Amino acid sequence: MKFCTSLLSVLYLVSLHIFTCDTRLIPQKTCQRLKLEKDTENLYNKTARFKELFPKDNITDIQFLTEELKQDFMAQKNCNLRNNFLSFYIKTFLEKPPVQEKAKKLKIIQDLMVIQDMLLHCKKSHCDHKETGIKSLTELKIKIRQINGNKVLWKAISEMDTLLEWIYEYVEEML
Ligand SMILES: *[C@@H]1O[C@H](CO)[C@@H](O)[C@H](O)[C@H]1NC(C)=O
Ligand SMILES: *[C@@H]1O[C@H](CO)[C@@H](O)[C@H](O)[C@H]1NC(C)=O
Repeated sequence: MKFCTSLLSVLYLVSLHIFTCDTRLIPQKTCQRLKLEKDTENLYNKTARFKELFPKDNITDIQFLTEELKQDFMAQKNCNLRNNFLSFYIKTFLEKPPVQEKAKKLKIIQDLMVIQDMLLHCKKSHCDHKETGIKSLTELKIKIRQINGNKVLWKAISEMDTLLEWIYEYVEEML
């Protein structure tokens, strides 16, 4: 009987867990600035090793992460843009077959997703929910279409440290 009761309570807890929690990462509700800074620095350090696993980017007249895109990415109200851009970066570059395996081995994608998740809770002002017609993003998509094959990936990887610098700078501005 005692066994049954404890089994029941375990089942109850399990079902409670299933029905109340997202099975993904349980997001922290507050901005963990220091952890976010440290994780970002860690991943920044890791990108140096990551870059070495791929051919060098030779296209010098095109830059994906432009100053205009940075301004849009850094704007306090652009929470959605930040979040969507990180998803876009992961999906469009890191999860592509020539990259994915190596990215997984170094836990690059996983680390970036944790950072993405923490970023959602670090904001100083209200988020602006409309995000259509962001010019810098449209321009990036046009550039991506101009480059053939895997060279798109090599360029994106070569600029990954810049993306992490933006995140670091954004978090610093939370002070
Ligand atoms: C990243 O690398 C720098 C320079 O090598 C080092 O000082 C720093 O402690 C490293 N950061 C982390 C979080 O590992
Ligand atoms: C970049 O240029 C070097 C030297 O011209 C060449 O050997 C290499 O294959 C090029 N890499 C890519 C990805 O095009």
